[in-house]
Amino acid sequence: MGTSEKIVYTFIVIYLMLMIMSRTEKSAAERRFSSEELPQVQIKAFEDTKPVLEALRSHSTSAIGVAGFCYGGKVAVELAKCGLVQAGVLLHPSFVTEDDMKEVNVPLAILGAENDHVSCPPKLVKRFKEILTARKIPNFTKIFPGVAHGWTLRYNLTDTKAVKAAEKAHLDMLHWFIKYVR
Ligand SMILES: *[C@@H]1O[C@H](CO)[C@@H](O)[C@H](O)[C@H]1NC(C)=O
Ligand SMILES: *[C@@H]1O[C@H](CO)[C@@H](O)[C@H](O)[C@H]1NC(C)=O
Repeated sequence: MGTSEKIVYTFIVIYLMLMIMSRTEKSAAERRFSSEELPQVQIKAFEDTKPVLEALRSHSTSAIGVAGFCYGGKVAVELAKCGLVQAGVLLHPSFVTEDDMKEVNVPLAILGAENDHVSCPPKLVKRFKEILTARKIPNFTKIFPGVAHGWTLRYNLTDTKAVKAAEKAHLDMLHWFIKYVR
């Protein structure tokens, strides 16, 4: 490839704004899907996204990274499993399983919250790392102290600590893409 040729970096960021819906949350406005329906919604989102990435790849886009937040984490991991992206980042994902980690073949970063007891607890992040490490998949995992599930998206803009924790995670995500999406 000539030096004048530019590699196109495309970051597809899936913001599935469904988010968080922890079992304790009561807000009817946010409870758009039941927890039984959600895995289906996630698979549907993956199936809807796949042709978009295929179309991008068939044109000039040479590299794609995918980031999934909360429910989008499952969508991102499915895309990482099917080889359509160069790298993935999962931020406080939900419904991502150890089996998913056995099928990912691209560099994967997973960011979890210390106070996430349901969707992606630190213990699960640790298991994910063990599986990726054993499979020699480039990996990065981090547990952010003092924060809860969803801290990179729904944070209090006037709370300096919350803003810092979110921005740190955003930087980790960007660094992962800079390193591996090429
Ligand atoms: C995966 O993580 C482990 C533990 O931090 C690290 O030793 C290993 O180098 C990582 N693997 C790759 C290929 O990045
Ligand atoms: C947001 O953070 C500010 C400053 O720490 C605090 O005074 C306020 O109560 C917080 N708002 C919410 C909704 O938690």
